Amino acid sequence: MTVFPKDFLWGGAIAANQAEGAWDVDGKGVAITDTTQHGIAKNVHDEEVVPGAFYPSHEAIDFYHRYDTDLEEMAALGLKCFRTSIAWTRIFPTGEEDEPNEEGLKFYDRLFDKMVALGIEPVVTISHYETPLTLHKKYNGWESKKLIPLFEKLCRVLFTRYGDRVHYWMTFNEMNNVHTIPYAAAGMDLTGDYPHQLQQIYQATHNMYVANAQAVRLAKELMPDAKMGIMLSLSQAAVYPASPKPEDVFGALQLQRRTFVSADVQLRGYYPGYVKRIWKDYKVTIDITDDELALIKQYTSQYLAFSYYRSSTYQEGMKIYGDTGGVVGKPNPYLKESAWGWPIDPLGLRWMCNLMQDRYDCPLFIVENGLGAADEISEDGKIHDPERSAYLRDHLKAIADAIQDGCKVIGYTWWGPIDIVSAGTGEMKKRYGFVYVDRHNDGSGTLKRQRKDSFDIYRQIIETDGDSLFQG
Ligand code: BG6
Repeated sequence: MTVFPKDFLWGGAIAANQAEGAWDVDGKGVAITDTTQHGIAKNVHDEEVVPGAFYPSHEAIDFYHRYDTDLEEMAALGLKCFRTSIAWTRIFPTGEEDEPNEEGLKFYDRLFDKMVALGIEPVVTISHYETPLTLHKKYNGWESKKLIPLFEKLCRVLFTRYGDRVHYWMTFNEMNNVHTIPYAAAGMDLTGDYPHQLQQIYQATHNMYVANAQAVRLAKELMPDAKMGIMLSLSQAAVYPASPKPEDVFGALQLQRRTFVSADVQLRGYYPGYVKRIWKDYKVTIDITDDELALIKQYTSQYLAFSYYRSSTYQEGMKIYGDTGGVVGKPNPYLKESAWGWPIDPLGLRWMCNLMQDRYDCPLFIVENGLGAADEISEDGKIHDPERSAYLRDHLKAIADAIQDGCKVIGYTWWGPIDIVSAGTGEMKKRYGFVYVDRHNDGSGTLKRQRKDSFDIYRQIIETDGDSLFQG
């Protein structure tokens, strides 16, 4: 009954800014997410760190000082790989220094050494909502081309230093979220009317496409065996029409194209016609050079990494909102929702795998999927989280179906295998982990770690190469 390949990358995923804490330790500079008191979903942020204000991510779960034992727990879970990001501001505190911060580099040396010693393959996101605050303030983030060489400098340092240990890289976390959470996805505030905002969005994403192509070029030069991927939120693309009304169906496609464009450009190497149509309709003029287009064409990425949490439903004329889970759509009467109102739809994941495999015919890496729930310690002293185990099993079964459909899924990293700070809301209460962390919304708690019931479920799935999904 074995469906999952022997070398399948069973894993877990976190991001530096949601786990490490130590926000100003060892020379680290301020990142955009260091200025959000209530998460990124509403694009509300301070312009500086306000003295005395509480920022949940500043201490987070103190992974910076506890990674050693946390990774040992991940090894006990059986993880074959572990995805995390590198906090840009640990390496270049403002993004603009000439020389990197050696203390920051040493931290990731220790982290990757530990993973390698435990037999865990490191998987790295270069930029996961962690643009240096200085680059936001001076340039409005990725709206400016100034960030392209700064990102290249960062990549050169990272590839040179860690290329011997890190073989799987992805450049930007969920850049297609730029429409709904621009501060996090592109370090940028949107201003003015809708056409102006589109101008900003398409300029920023273009700049990121160029930066991605340069990273791929650099990787070929410095780490020829490494795999370079892009990372998108496919919860943004899993959009159902609310009815068979043609306007609902075509509107859903137009929404999906907000995501497709990033894959079209970075995996196929060229801009699709539907984007040029949008630029024409809204009189958007992007600063694009022939050299940039040639670079994008030549240096395409090798795999598509993606997050998937939920699907959504589009009805003609509906105002489009979004958060870290993708588009916020009309309620879907066929789906149950999580405690945070996210529809639970494993078949939507199989759909996304098939759709993307058909479009891009490249390896797929599911690097985020999970269930946020308000877990509590029961009277028996344990943490019972059957909904999480069910979510895990149902989504992995959907992946097994996708693999049997012919999709080249190379791995799966559960989001937040240990509780971390929620990106969207800044809460600790919204927990994803197989390991509980005693830390609460107000910052109280001992930070003690404790396994939940789901820990054994995932461990068993990994141990049996997925076969336990089909037993009992
Ligand atoms: C993804 C992000 O969009 O969603 C993660 O890449 C985030 O950073 C995850 O944590 C889940 O969202 P939230 O808001 O529940 O933490």
